Amino acid sequence: MRIDVLSIFPSYFDGLTLSLLGKAQHAGIIDLRVHDLRDWTSDRHNTVDDTPYGGGAGMVMKPEPWGLALDDVAGPSDTAGAERPTIIFPSPAGEVFTQKTARALATHEHLVFGCGRYEGIDERVFEYAADLGEVRLISLGDYVLNGGEVATMAMIEAIGRLIPGVVGNPESLVEESHEDGLLEYPSYTKPASWRERAVPDILLSGNHGAIATWRREQQFERTRLRRPDLLPDDETSQS
Ligand code: ADE
Repeated sequence: MRIDVLSIFPSYFDGLTLSLLGKAQHAGIIDLRVHDLRDWTSDRHNTVDDTPYGGGAGMVMKPEPWGLALDDVAGPSDTAGAERPTIIFPSPAGEVFTQKTARALATHEHLVFGCGRYEGIDERVFEYAADLGEVRLISLGDYVLNGGEVATMAMIEAIGRLIPGVVGNPESLVEESHEDGLLEYPSYTKPASWRERAVPDILLSGNHGAIATWRREQQFERTRLRRPDLLPDDETSQS
């Protein structure tokens, strides 16, 4: 998968060279290209923002650098013969990102992330981007970040680890929170007793059927307690 990131703070993404995603880039599974949006400015101050038409607080990102950058990383000349890219703008005003979104995006060939700052990006940029690819405005959740960089990193990590070959043991992906609509069961390792706290007996029993049942019950219990919104109505009422 190819991933292009457009940002005025490209060094945010240095962390993505670490760990599993770093290895995936070395192995050629993920081709991550982080670009400085200011490379597409031509004035002395590399200006990327200006005051909003109609007044109001804050600054808005100018369309010109975005247009030139998108032409270069998402335009037809750069993606000749390939699938049209999916162009994602992280935004608190977007659809909410979930594991399902991550799974769907992990099958795409080319993602482009446009990281906005300030009060946002001139609206015409989204319209223009739709001529080049499929545009998605995606929110990490109902809170506001200072810009799209942290949201983009979270999405790249969630998507990247679902690409075949990125996580060494694919079985570990099956049993985690949100994969089956429930929260993950609790995990324990050695020692069996630590600071007078014992690992539940069932996990030491060697009875794999009973362990699987217990884990399933734990999943429901935790989901009922912490995230009842994930359960169908008839499951929330059970004791
Ligand atoms: N940019 C600012 N806040 C955001 C959020 N909650 N999700 C995605 N991008 C954002």
